[in-house]
Amino acid sequence: MPSIAFNANGKPVSVAADGDTPLLDILRNHLGLVGSKFGCGLEQCGTCMVLVDGQPVKSCGKAVSTVAGKNVLTIEGLGTPERPHPLQQAFLDEQAGQCGYCLSGILLSAKALLDRNPAPSRRDIALALDDNICRCGSHHRILRAVEKAAAQMRQGGAR
Ligand code: FES
Ligand code: FES
Repeated sequence: MPSIAFNANGKPVSVAADGDTPLLDILRNHLGLVGSKFGCGLEQCGTCMVLVDGQPVKSCGKAVSTVAGKNVLTIEGLGTPERPHPLQQAFLDEQAGQCGYCLSGILLSAKALLDRNPAPSRRDIALALDDNICRCGSHHRILRAVEKAAAQMRQGGAR
């Protein structure tokens, strides 16, 4: 079994796995990073979204071999309960979500957006989240929360 090395949330990891194994399976089953969720398994819902070198990637459809040597960010690396990322705080403040199943993917897509565009319009946010489905219909609160986080980050809370 080959060994595949990459960085997960800033820490070097190495896993012995078939290179075709979906990254999502490696994150959840080998590394215990269960914040990334399995939804459709068909690259349709975005609940498995992670960032690879800053770009949103649906990890259910991404072979782990393709992230060798790269930086993978999952929800576990975004913030902590003691020090939440401004996006996480804004989602809490706006109560943006119900069951929460979609939120790790949405938060990571939103982070990628704010990293490249600190002042997105509501349309920019909607387009950036186009690949993330929320079955609970929390879309309006989610849009508000991303706008709020963007404003707070522009005022100095960025990281
Ligand atoms: S589980 Fe990956 S897109 Fe749905
Ligand atoms: S909060 Fe339930 S799917 Fe989005």
